[in-house]
Amino acid sequence: MIILGFESSCDETGVAVVCTERGLLAHALHSQVAMHASYGGVVPELASRDHVRRIIPLAREVLAQAQLTLSDIGAIAYTAGPGLAGALLVGASVAQAIAWSLELPAIPIHHLEGHLLSPRMAMPCPEFPFVALLVSGGHTQLMRVDDVARYELLGETLDDAAGEAFDKTAKLLGLGYPGGPALAKLAEQGDPRDIVLPRPMLHSQNLDFSFSGLKTAVMTRLKEALNQPVVPDNLHANLAAATQDAIVDVLVAKSISALKQTGLKRLVVAGGVGANRALRERLARQLTRLKAEAFFPPIDLCTDNGAMIAFAAAQRVNRGLADLSAQGHGFNVAPRWDLAEI
Ligand code: KG4
Ligand code: ZN
Repeated sequence: MIILGFESSCDETGVAVVCTERGLLAHALHSQVAMHASYGGVVPELASRDHVRRIIPLAREVLAQAQLTLSDIGAIAYTAGPGLAGALLVGASVAQAIAWSLELPAIPIHHLEGHLLSPRMAMPCPEFPFVALLVSGGHTQLMRVDDVARYELLGETLDDAAGEAFDKTAKLLGLGYPGGPALAKLAEQGDPRDIVLPRPMLHSQNLDFSFSGLKTAVMTRLKEALNQPVVPDNLHANLAAATQDAIVDVLVAKSISALKQTGLKRLVVAGGVGANRALRERLARQLTRLKAEAFFPPIDLCTDNGAMIAFAAAQRVNRGLADLSAQGHGFNVAPRWDLAEI
């Protein structure tokens, strides 16, 4: 079966076609980063309006790329939450309208399930069970994943997400939005040992995280340095490197604890922060030492995209976990939605 999938939970419009047997056939993405940049963050109303403009042209583009027409499609998938309500409604209403008009089933997908299963699009494909480190702009969670739809929360952030910590620190350093990739780039020129930042909850006896203190620590160090008679060389790059190092340290240590606690040997990393090179390198290195394996989605599928939504729907279809009755095209979105609840 060929599934047409839509992602519109935040500031990326993503559309893809995935085959339940052959995997990803085509995907296309429009990022709203440039549109939101001058506001320093996502403006929800602008995001919704832009999704409306982009979603149908992207669907046409994806079908053309895959040399398919709507008559080849067997089901429509869409992100039903969590995310921005107005933005989610665009994808949900377009998906349900297409499904209704073609008498096809519509499959609502949890955005984080999309992220979490996305490394299975790459080769080698991680077999179940595995531990998933979900690190996005809104979430930082460690999950035990026994199969599709069998997710157990092991730990999560008590305040800011890892991506948020990257973004907020980047803003303090004048790097604009979105901060993660910009901070990572600046960090390459800095020395992470020049300034030592706290590693929040590194030694807590659980798998929870806390990142909100990090931006305060960076702000304090920045103010102290700027008040000195001579501003230290390379201050911003060193602070960027120290921030990245602190976040990566905590993420790696907790991931290893999760593997030890569950006795599992496979770690899957997903979500936007999964694109971070320092995190990928450190995890790969440390896990090899423990005879465990780290799996990542392809870099371009770490941040939000339609492929992961269509792919999650395909995996649900393959396991008989999707309602394929093609009835009842009324719908709801869930701006707040716990993955462990599905
Ligand atoms: O998964 P995602 O695209 O959207 C959400 O569902 O939140 O993640 C976006 C987050 C942002 O906070 C962004 O700054 C961060 O991922 N990010 C990165 C990198 N690329 C994206 N953080 C660190 N290093 C990167 N290379
Ligand atoms: Zn996401």
